[in-house]
Amino acid sequence: MKKINSFAEYKDWYQKSVEHPQDFWADIAETFTWKKKWDSVLDWDFKGPNVKWFDGAELNITENCIDRHLAEKGDQTAIIWEANDPDTEHKKVTYKELSVQVNKTANALKSLGVKKGDRVCIYMPMSLELSYTVLACARIGAIHSVVFAGFSAKSLADRINDATCELLVTADGFTRGSKYIDLKAIADEALKSCTCTKNVLVLKHSGKSVNWQEGRDVWYGDIVDKQSDVCPAETMRAEDELFILYTSGSTGKPKGVVHTTAGYMVYAEYSFRNVFQYNQGDMYWCTADIGWITGHSYIIYGPLLAGTTTIMFEGTPTFPDAGRFWQIVEKYKVNIFYTAPTAIRALQAKGLEWVEKYDLSSLRVLGSVGEPINEEAWQWYHTNIGKGKCALVDTWWQTETGGIMISPLAGLTKEKPTFATYPLPGIQPMLVDADGNEIKGNGVEGNLCVKFPWPSMIRTTWGDHERCKQVYFSTYENKYFTGDGCKRDEDGMYRITGRVDDVINVSGHRIGTAEVEDAINSNDAVVESAVVGYPHDIKGQGIYAYIIADRKIDNLEAFAAEIRSSVTSEIGALAKPDKIQVVQGLPKTRSGKIMRRILRKVAEGVTDQLGDTSTLLDPTVVDNIVQTKDLVN
Ligand code: WTA
Repeated sequence: MKKINSFAEYKDWYQKSVEHPQDFWADIAETFTWKKKWDSVLDWDFKGPNVKWFDGAELNITENCIDRHLAEKGDQTAIIWEANDPDTEHKKVTYKELSVQVNKTANALKSLGVKKGDRVCIYMPMSLELSYTVLACARIGAIHSVVFAGFSAKSLADRINDATCELLVTADGFTRGSKYIDLKAIADEALKSCTCTKNVLVLKHSGKSVNWQEGRDVWYGDIVDKQSDVCPAETMRAEDELFILYTSGSTGKPKGVVHTTAGYMVYAEYSFRNVFQYNQGDMYWCTADIGWITGHSYIIYGPLLAGTTTIMFEGTPTFPDAGRFWQIVEKYKVNIFYTAPTAIRALQAKGLEWVEKYDLSSLRVLGSVGEPINEEAWQWYHTNIGKGKCALVDTWWQTETGGIMISPLAGLTKEKPTFATYPLPGIQPMLVDADGNEIKGNGVEGNLCVKFPWPSMIRTTWGDHERCKQVYFSTYENKYFTGDGCKRDEDGMYRITGRVDDVINVSGHRIGTAEVEDAINSNDAVVESAVVGYPHDIKGQGIYAYIIADRKIDNLEAFAAEIRSSVTSEIGALAKPDKIQVVQGLPKTRSGKIMRRILRKVAEGVTDQLGDTSTLLDPTVVDNIVQTKDLVN
């Protein structure tokens, strides 16, 4: 695949992508291995929404991730696995070995009765076998639904049931940082409420003993090892579903975002190559977890499509110490490093001594993703990690967009701290006002929409197309609405200012306030709750919960611990409130709507400029909230 080589070329590509989108994408798609070429490049309407890319084409994405590299790159390392514990030996697999493992795993799935179109839930630690399983699903046309291995049994069960997954693939357990996670036990708990799941494939990862259900549970190694290493790649149509990934929105339960085969594939490699300016032979490391979209698109699919060596890291930035990331960069001479602002801020807080111990001279490109990067973190990353000489790409995108949408192209686009800068060729962002009117020109601010389809866009929400339409395509007519606020400066550069809906971005993880409230309300003593985000030095946003209890709370600490434990068991530890305040009432309008604007202000520590409170049913509620001392940090 050709890549953009200068900013002038970027502008040419961009212009072509807007004027002749079909020719533009057909050129890019040419470079893939197709079993059959497409009849039409794009058919679309955003009313449905009904979007088809490369309709009529047939392919298998794993032939593009693996088979097509075997002749020239068979002996090149495809994936390096680095364990949580630095004393555990790392593992490397070449493209040839990856092919063998993926084919065997695919045959194992088949032998368990998994067929094209079936859903497979993957709830695993960051292990090589997680990548094999993802690719094995794609090999046989099963739809993978990866659930981050930090979600609770209840969240796992909801996701398994929503997609009626035939098979669950999990592991005995694993250690993240210094904490052991008994994954099989959580999976067992979840499966008590899932009747759709016939088998559980269990990877022996930690070696700890687990409960076993005969007839249902199967050891991964036992079944995979005895399979043939040849599994013909299933013929998939362009719009056949590739995967489901659940993500939180402003209302109700998480939605299963559906991505389809051809468009996702084309955009994953295209965006990977251009944003990071990948050169053959580069060592590439994205620190995300495969439980999130960043791991799907930029640990597995994008890098493997481009024939890269991609590093998978099981651990955390600060275990056993705050030098862990930089030690790995030195160890593998990483050229391209992609992480989240929350990790940067956490490491910044630990001081430079951890950075200075290691040789970071291999680095050429740094990336940031998941949340707005503040100026201070941007400068620290640029100066101390990039030594002022690396390109720094602040990449804006979403689970729903499938790939990076707005970002500098490393080394080609002039950077501006905190700005994601310009859209990739093929992406047509627009800002709208509250009524959906386009805000034209520069030096403006509004809600970020996209007005034209791109290949890796969301196609539907699993099992509920109407929801997809309502959430993304109905707020503003005939546009995809991102849920983000955005500025466009005098140079036409974009800066994402954060969510404008009730989604909190905690350490780069999307959490719906309604979900957290439901979890808190599951506690017997809770009458009502309201959850908002507030600025947090490390996490970007923290979770602040206002709770009305049905009794007098004498021991606030104990109550807070109980609330946190409810949230941990309903959702997962990632959604635990940072601050909990017991209040007498919540600020509501006469129609009963909670005025979150006021709660956000109080959570930020602003108590004097609360704005107009005259529409409140009972304005004294606010005084009570401001004055109360019943707060647990
Ligand atoms: C936020 C992660 C500012 C944004 C790939 C978006 C960002 C949400 C950036 C999607 C960025 C992601 N600058 N904000 N560079 N990248 N976001 O679905 O609010 O986990 O809507 O996808 O993260 O989160 P998601």
